[in-house]
Amino acid sequence: MPFCTFEGIEGSGKSTQALRFAALFGERALLTREPGGTDLGRGVREVLLAPRAHPVAPVAESLLFFADRAQHVGELLRPALAAGRVVICDRYVDSSLAYQGYARGLDLDALHHIAAFATGGLRPDLTLLLDMPVAEGLARARSRGGSPDRLEAEEIAFHERVRAGYHALAAQDPGRWRIVDARGGVDEVAERVRAAAAGWPW
Ligand code: TYD
Repeated sequence: MPFCTFEGIEGSGKSTQALRFAALFGERALLTREPGGTDLGRGVREVLLAPRAHPVAPVAESLLFFADRAQHVGELLRPALAAGRVVICDRYVDSSLAYQGYARGLDLDALHHIAAFATGGLRPDLTLLLDMPVAEGLARARSRGGSPDRLEAEEIAFHERVRAGYHALAAQDPGRWRIVDARGGVDEVAERVRAAAAGWPW
């Protein structure tokens, strides 16, 4: 069951690269994202990303991301995999581990349990980490204009913890992860992604 995910900090260019990668598989590819891959998820996404007058409790935040994910797995990911499609997802469980676990400080074991419950154990077989220094990513994200969403507006130290979290996750499961240098032009990075994923789906 070919299931690949893209992960990275804000401004890492993940979504552009996921699109380029999906194009390699033509009609066979399903490109989707979290949060917001389903109708229910788009509602959850708005709730999650809107700036708030009161702090959002980290557990509440994480459960909303997992609510989006549970719907996404059932409505889109599993049926597509069962139909033999190549599924490419822009963010998945590792975003929750990096952002809500490593950066917000929620218990990682608890998040793993919730992940198993929410996804029924569906795991990607390839994860591409688009990696770049936080300052560069944030500058890129901000140059897109518009006001930053609730997560983007977090302090630099938060984003540094996200990046370090991704590296820790990659080190724990090197068979699944590929770290790709996300600095440089779109074509250059797309070539690195293609090389890093060579042979996939295995
Ligand atoms: P999005 O606009 O999709 O950001 P990006 O283009 O960087 O992917 O917003 C998703 C935001 O939600 C992003 O800041 C990462 C965060 N997030 C979590 O904190 N936990 C999660 O489980 C997921 C899926 C996303």
